[in-house]
Amino acid sequence: MVSAPRCRPGARGLLALLMLLPLPGARGLCGTLPRLRRAIPRDTSRTEGFPINAEVTYKCVDGCVKIPGKSDTVVCLSNSEWSSIGEFCDHDCGAPPRLKSAALSKEDERKNYHPSGSTVRYVCRPGYERTELTPVITCLENLTWSESPEFCRGKSCGVPKGPEHGRAVDVTNVLYGAKVNIICDDGFRLRGRTFIQCLWKGDQVEWSPLPTCQAITCSPPPNIANGTHNGSNMEIFHCNSSVTYKCDPNFSLTGEASIHCTTKDNINGVWNGSAPECKGLCGTLPRLRRAIPRDTSRTEGFPINAEVTYKCVDGCVKIPGKSDTVVCLSNSEWSSIGEFCDHDCGAPPRLKSAALSKEDERKNYHPSGSTVRYVCRPGYERTELTPVITCLENLTWSESPEFCRGPGIDKHSIGMGMGMGIGAFSICAGIIVAYILGQKKKRSYGVNLDSRKHHITTEHDFQMSETKSNLILKAISFFYIQKMSHTAAERGCLSSVL
Ligand SMILES: *[C@@H]1O[C@H](CO)[C@@H](O)[C@H](O)[C@H]1NC(C)=O
Ligand SMILES: *[C@@H]1O[C@H](CO)[C@@H](O)[C@H](O)[C@H]1NC(C)=O
Ligand SMILES: *[C@@H]1O[C@H](CO)[C@@H](O)[C@H](O)[C@H]1NC(C)=O
Ligand SMILES: *[C@@H]1O[C@H](CO)[C@@H](O)[C@H](O)[C@H]1NC(C)=O
Ligand SMILES: *[C@@H]1O[C@H](CO)[C@@H](O)[C@H](O)[C@H]1NC(C)=O
Ligand SMILES: *[C@@H]1O[C@H](CO)[C@@H](O)[C@H](O)[C@H]1NC(C)=O
Ligand SMILES: *[C@@H]1O[C@H](CO)[C@@H](O)[C@H](O)[C@H]1NC(C)=O
Repeated sequence: MVSAPRCRPGARGLLALLMLLPLPGARGLCGTLPRLRRAIPRDTSRTEGFPINAEVTYKCVDGCVKIPGKSDTVVCLSNSEWSSIGEFCDHDCGAPPRLKSAALSKEDERKNYHPSGSTVRYVCRPGYERTELTPVITCLENLTWSESPEFCRGKSCGVPKGPEHGRAVDVTNVLYGAKVNIICDDGFRLRGRTFIQCLWKGDQVEWSPLPTCQAITCSPPPNIANGTHNGSNMEIFHCNSSVTYKCDPNFSLTGEASIHCTTKDNINGVWNGSAPECKGLCGTLPRLRRAIPRDTSRTEGFPINAEVTYKCVDGCVKIPGKSDTVVCLSNSEWSSIGEFCDHDCGAPPRLKSAALSKEDERKNYHPSGSTVRYVCRPGYERTELTPVITCLENLTWSESPEFCRGPGIDKHSIGMGMGMGIGAFSICAGIIVAYILGQKKKRSYGVNLDSRKHHITTEHDFQMSETKSNLILKAISFFYIQKMSHTAAERGCLSSVL
């Protein structure tokens, strides 16, 4: 706070100078400017001592505006008096509200003084139309504008029709300025803006241009070797479409036969898998005159490397050394196969006096012209005849003459001898059973310690009877072996017991 400033010498000198200044003006200068309640001079740098004819303009204080037609200027008259000035500012409602739907009328637009009680009129902006309400607002006594009801309303663009393969969603407002979202159907992508807007155009309102919905497509499906797909005559593959592959004849399909055009981002289409492969196949199996495939359930369409084995038809046998199998080669052809079966004489006859020679025993193919050699069975002797039979042209074996003869037994007794042989065999079997049972019994008594007395007696008895029966049996058996039995089997059986 500064009170009664003690002026410094320099300041006092300046003050003296200022007091001298008005002196020349005393002959024609205006004094203090008139004071107004609601206005102040525009230029506040000088408040008095204005020369004759000087003009000073006022401006309204904040919250007040100039009343049109009233002067805001004073002039320093030749009598050194200021010209008269009245209050030219007043409070008012300020600028009328700016509305989206309506603008001030031409005449009200220019007004900048809106005292209490004054009104302004609006006109609808382009795209809006009058409602039944009067488009006028009033500056109220408390210097606020009256409410502005909806006296202009947006014109209607009508129901928006969505694009092809798309539609408008959530259509709640179709008046000027409204925005409506557009979406595309599944499988279509949107090109353009995702919404339309009801806009002013010419002297109308109308929807902005619709976006388009383009089909999401896949590139043409890949071609494959040795196969085709059913989309080869098409150019556009829509989302959700599928193509199915088929292999050329003699090729088999591996993988999924069909692929589907799908989309993950709703923009680009992609096939949901790779194309299948066609692998070579062998066709119909080679036909043979005397053989058929072992497994008849499948006759063609075999994969590469498949093996198929044949078997001879009835009455034929496999020729040793010839292949009975074909393989599906990588060029989809069957490996070559020749006839590997032939008719033959079948197994050579079984003879009582002679057996097939070791080497012929193993043969199982006896074509016309082939021979087999016999050897006499033990107990038989060679005659002067050659022990060989031949497979004849009509595929029967030649006669087998008596090339082996049993000592002391003529042909007529062979039948009887055979019967006795069977009898001897039965007896032999009986002996073996009895002998085995006897041995078992003996063992079981040997361990029975609780009845020693009985044990000893029984064992003794048993040993006695065994010895007797053994002697008798051995005698009978020896007789049979020497006189009756004809086969090695019989003799072997009896010898094993004895
Ligand atoms: C001014 O007056 C009107 C009507 O009397 C009233 O509705 C409004 O609230 C008043 N405004 C203020 C700011 O006092
Ligand atoms: C595609 O298929 C899916 C599922 O099957 C279905 O929801 C969708 O509507 C289809 N899109 C087109 C364009 O057909
Ligand atoms: C299979 O496809 C291959 C490769 O395209 C081709 O060289 C071959 O000739 C085809 N085979 C047949 C039988 O069409
Ligand atoms: C191909 O065939 C499949 C099965 O018949 C069918 O679903 C598909 O629509 C066909 N694709 C074309 C392009 O014709
Ligand atoms: C491709 O899509 C189809 C249809 O949805 C389906 O059946 C098939 O299994 C799909 N393939 C693959 C490889 O995912
Ligand atoms: C399929 O293969 C068989 C032999 O395996 C052959 O005879 C036939 O001509 C083949 N078919 C085609 C169309 O090539
Ligand atoms: C086969 O031929 C031989 C000699 O030519 C003959 O003896 C025999 O009866 C014939 N067999 C048959 C079944 O025709």
